[in-house]
Amino acid sequence: MNQGSFYRDTWVEINLDAIKQNVRNMKKHVGEQTKVIAVVKANAYGHGDSETAEAALSSGASMLAVAFLDEALSLREKGITAPILVLGGSRAADVQTAVDHHITLTVFSLDWLKEAMNELEKGTLFCHIKVDTGMGRLGFTEKEKLMEFISYSNSEEKVAIKGIYTHFATADELETGYFEKQFKRFNEMIEGLPSEDWMVHCGNSATGLRFPEKLFNAVRLGISMYGLSPSEEMKKELPYKLEEAFSLRTKLVQVKKIHKGDSVSYGATFKAEKDEWVGTLPIGYADGWIRKLKNSDVLIEGKRVPIIGRICMDQCMVLLPEEMSSGTEVTLIGKQENSEIPVDEVASRLETINYEVTCIIGTRVPRIYMENGRIVKVKNSLLS
Ligand SMILES: Cc1ncc(COP(=O)(O)O)c(C=O)c1O
Repeated sequence: MNQGSFYRDTWVEINLDAIKQNVRNMKKHVGEQTKVIAVVKANAYGHGDSETAEAALSSGASMLAVAFLDEALSLREKGITAPILVLGGSRAADVQTAVDHHITLTVFSLDWLKEAMNELEKGTLFCHIKVDTGMGRLGFTEKEKLMEFISYSNSEEKVAIKGIYTHFATADELETGYFEKQFKRFNEMIEGLPSEDWMVHCGNSATGLRFPEKLFNAVRLGISMYGLSPSEEMKKELPYKLEEAFSLRTKLVQVKKIHKGDSVSYGATFKAEKDEWVGTLPIGYADGWIRKLKNSDVLIEGKRVPIIGRICMDQCMVLLPEEMSSGTEVTLIGKQENSEIPVDEVASRLETINYEVTCIIGTRVPRIYMENGRIVKVKNSLLS
């Protein structure tokens, strides 16, 4: 048994060519002089951290970003040597681990830095300063405190500031008032800083797509690297086509005839009004195909087929148009023949955003990586 095998016919298919194309398109759009930081936190939004990282790095990204130190260490363990920025806060007590693994931390407090310097026995901490210009999450809000931090850092040889950044709260909204306010504030915060050799970045995908001229010298590319639009409203003004990389597939594990009056699944909420063919799918809410998706569609032989009854932990049922063979492929997200269920359709059913959909498809679902229409890797996190 190894990570390249799996024994249940349910899998996520990741199109690495799509990821690469999305990175190349962004790179072209923002200009060669602007660095691309590939955001691969949360297992690369469910796509697989090291596989996405490698695809992004091979197509023009020069740095990776993750949410916390464990995610960065996981990439290092998988052999990724590129620079990695941790976007969230880290414990001062863990600074030596970060330094030992050449991981850049986000910093936003002088007290934290002093504590970290006490902890650090050898090496130099590389950091990017976070400025909070209106997201209300992490970062310096006052210039005075920022200057105090920088001047302390300059006197401390165990720390090297390598960048400064902020994060927009509304870059994906067509109304740009709040975005402009944050942009102005960031400019004020960085004015006069010794930032000539630093990475200066404020933009996520939405900013990169809409305001390539407002990026300073790097863009943090997340959702659009995966081929998804940062918001519904932005779809009409995308500067290039995004290629969705994520598909979710399974196979009919049983097909059976049910009769008028028979019911399906927990609670017996679906009752057949006539004889019907029902297919059982080996995927359920423990895979992230959550109960709220009852009544949504899947694709079989290129046609839409509804899920019926409640979704169980590991299985759910669909109403087939006719008798079909067990083993027939089913697409829950993605393209099949001439039909498609995009991630956004599932997001809209769940009254959420596309980001959440790919993140919640659990790691117990194996990932199959495709390049040039061929499988290049299979990863089953349950087996090692
Ligand atoms: C600080 C930071 N930068 C960049 C990103 C990437 O944003 P997006 O996925 O919208 O490109 C995120 C994602 O949440 C983030 O938290």
